[in-house]
Amino acid sequence: METEIVSVDNDMDNSVSYQQAVDILKSGGVVAFPTETVYGLGALATDAVAVQRIFEAKGRPSDNPLIVHIGNKIDVDNYAVNVPEIAGKLMDAFWPGPLTLVFHKRPGVIAENVTPGFDTVGIRMPDHPVALKLLRTLNGPLAAPSANRSGKPSPTEAGHVLTDLEGRIPLIVDGGRTGVGVESTVLDMTASPPEILRPGGVTREMIEDVIGPVHAEGKSPGAADEEAPRAPGMKYMHYAPESPLYVIRPDETSIREAVKQLHIEGKRVAVIGPDEFDIADADWYFAVGPLNNNEAIAVNLYGALRQCDLTDADLILAAETDYEGVGQAVMNRLLKAADGKRFNG
Ligand code: TXA
Ligand code: MG
Repeated sequence: METEIVSVDNDMDNSVSYQQAVDILKSGGVVAFPTETVYGLGALATDAVAVQRIFEAKGRPSDNPLIVHIGNKIDVDNYAVNVPEIAGKLMDAFWPGPLTLVFHKRPGVIAENVTPGFDTVGIRMPDHPVALKLLRTLNGPLAAPSANRSGKPSPTEAGHVLTDLEGRIPLIVDGGRTGVGVESTVLDMTASPPEILRPGGVTREMIEDVIGPVHAEGKSPGAADEEAPRAPGMKYMHYAPESPLYVIRPDETSIREAVKQLHIEGKRVAVIGPDEFDIADADWYFAVGPLNNNEAIAVNLYGALRQCDLTDADLILAAETDYEGVGQAVMNRLLKAADGKRFNG
């Protein structure tokens, strides 16, 4: 299968491109498209055969449920039942936006393989003009995981999707680079109090400001890895570049020392870290944003992990961030990419 890329520029009339995407989706095909977090690989969520194509294209384990994307807030009631009042508050505050809410599923509407074996469904309304226009032109729900091969970092630009899925999907709608850079927060509204299953673009503090205390996964560094995670996707090795990655303290001197030591062991080292650091000895240095600017670091993190795959590095060191704001999500993804490993010299 040949993979076509259509670029949609918001200032132009793109109705032909959207129609092309919608035609593919309506005939049971899959289409990659941008959201504000990462690129998604969409299929009509009511079509089990189409949804199956997502799992095949990604090589994704079929027991890992998909998020359903909607184009209007009121669509929630088509797919969910017993939506609590506090969920309405969250939707008003954060939709469209990077927050996925897990509800009890309305029986018989969404295809079974979207949430295999679950009686819940995760729903979100993405805050991206291309995603919204696609959903509204389609006038239906899109099941869409991130558009990467399973286990790879999520794609934050169309080129990343092409690298992973060329020849496996018919169409990529290119809307440029994504704005948030890490995936949506997944919040289980069927738990009491609601529980954060995956930290993401909407932080715990932002949620608690609206509805009060929630349970959170991975509150302290590494804690997420010790418990059985409840978002099934979190149990799989994720976001990982090809060479082993170690999280390291964000201290210029210790990183220099680490590189020196690794060179003595004959290893080539790629370093992911803040703009300010000067690690002259590193074989590759990928700057992801100003120190402690977690929003900037989130935007650039997955691209940097992918750039590491283009090097001959034997080992990757990634500087830790603090846990402020989206830092929670950044550290969650970094520790997953590292499989929990920290570099201690
Ligand atoms: O930002 C995002 O959420 C992106 C964009 C494309 O929207 N999508 C995304 O999808 O990251 P995916 O499939 O890569 O991750 C979905 C996560 C997985 O960890 C999955 O286990 C969890 O959400 N999830 C989905 N439905 C669930 C449900 N009903 N109950 C519990 N966890 C669920
Ligand atoms: Mg994913």
